[in-house]
Amino acid sequence: MSGPSDRVGVGLIGTGNIGKTHLTGLASLISAGLVDARIEAVCDTDTDALRSAAELFEVPKSYVDYHELVSDEDVDVVYVCTPTNKHRDMVKAAARAGKAVFCEKPLAHSCPQARDMLAVTQDAGVATGVGLVLRYDQFLLYAKDLLAEKDFGKPMLAHIRDDQRFPVDYIYYSRWRGDRAIAGGGTLIEHSIHDIDILLWLFGAVDNVFARVGFYAGREVEDMASVSLKHKNGMVSTIDSVWHWVERPNERFVEFFFEKGFIAIRLESGHRYLEYHLQGEVPVKVDEERANGALMRHLGFSRNDLSVEGFDALTAVGSERYAALSYAFLTALRRGVDPSPSFADAIAAHRVVDAAYESANLNRPVDIL
Ligand SMILES: NC(=O)c1ccc[n+]([C@@H]2O[C@H](COP(=O)([O-])OP(=O)(O)OC[C@H]3O[C@@H](n4cnc5c(N)ncnc54)[C@H](O)[C@@H]3O)[C@@H](O)[C@H]2O)c1
Repeated sequence: MSGPSDRVGVGLIGTGNIGKTHLTGLASLISAGLVDARIEAVCDTDTDALRSAAELFEVPKSYVDYHELVSDEDVDVVYVCTPTNKHRDMVKAAARAGKAVFCEKPLAHSCPQARDMLAVTQDAGVATGVGLVLRYDQFLLYAKDLLAEKDFGKPMLAHIRDDQRFPVDYIYYSRWRGDRAIAGGGTLIEHSIHDIDILLWLFGAVDNVFARVGFYAGREVEDMASVSLKHKNGMVSTIDSVWHWVERPNERFVEFFFEKGFIAIRLESGHRYLEYHLQGEVPVKVDEERANGALMRHLGFSRNDLSVEGFDALTAVGSERYAALSYAFLTALRRGVDPSPSFADAIAAHRVVDAAYESANLNRPVDIL
């Protein structure tokens, strides 16, 4: 621990796009007094990115070599926010140094690689967290509550349409996302692993997968994936995932059909909402303010427990899910309970991703054994 109290020292590797988002979330959690932590160190091989993050977030120590960050005795928890092909070595080094690890999704290029990472963290006895951040989306949490509280009947069909401007330029400007050797794949593993995780989280494990992928841009990584999952509970869910070239915000449109009801959620755009309709009742539209109540409940707060600053830290547009995820992760570490989602949850999603790629290659359904 970094201080006289139980204060947790955080070290973060990779101060790019998502690294800065996590630093923003962590800084606001700390300043609102929601977590007892200090950002002790940042690391990046790009010295401009490193300097700017260290200055912006007033981080005392900067490293170019991640080995130095993981062996820093003031660092208790390591956030790994580098491109995907770097995750494995960094996670293993952090775990072997006895540090709890939070790693961005996808954990790795394949399920066996992700399992290898989990095994090293288990041998080292360190806790793990993963950036499957949609689990802290207030609308998806609201949907989870609705399913627990109301009688929708059996789930029949779920569909997620996930589209994003091809993230090699535009606001992301991360050329590595077009490089299979770094990213491991395209829109399916890099973006829709989130959708797969949500479908497993809400509707349970999957028996088999059928997928088709496309390479419209002629890149090494797929820019279209259409995936059908047969869940063990009998329902089917589908994901349609596209990287296109239109300058528009990311959009996810989610629809769940049940025997006695329907839920639709529009995420990512400026008009986020959830709508549900139960048989024999009028449709209900849920706005962000109401959905925030579900997020607060899941984090263990009632609105009156929180200062305005604390509420804003957990709900501010841009870093809201990430701050909530970090809050849940750091609070689980403090309480000595397993963080959620963990590497084990990510591995379940990786199994489905691997099966989807295999199915697309073989042009037939692939069982998940
Ligand atoms: N959970 C989410 O919603 C979410 C969103 C975006 C990205 N991601 C994931 O986060 C990871 C990073 O994505 P990004 O968009 O931030 O990429 P990025 O390119 O913006 O940032 C990556 C940073 O890592 C640095 N880096 C590369 N190699 C390094 C090394 N050896 N040591 C130290 N630093 C190194 C780069 O210089 C860069 O600053 C990817 O795995 C991506 O899939 C997750």
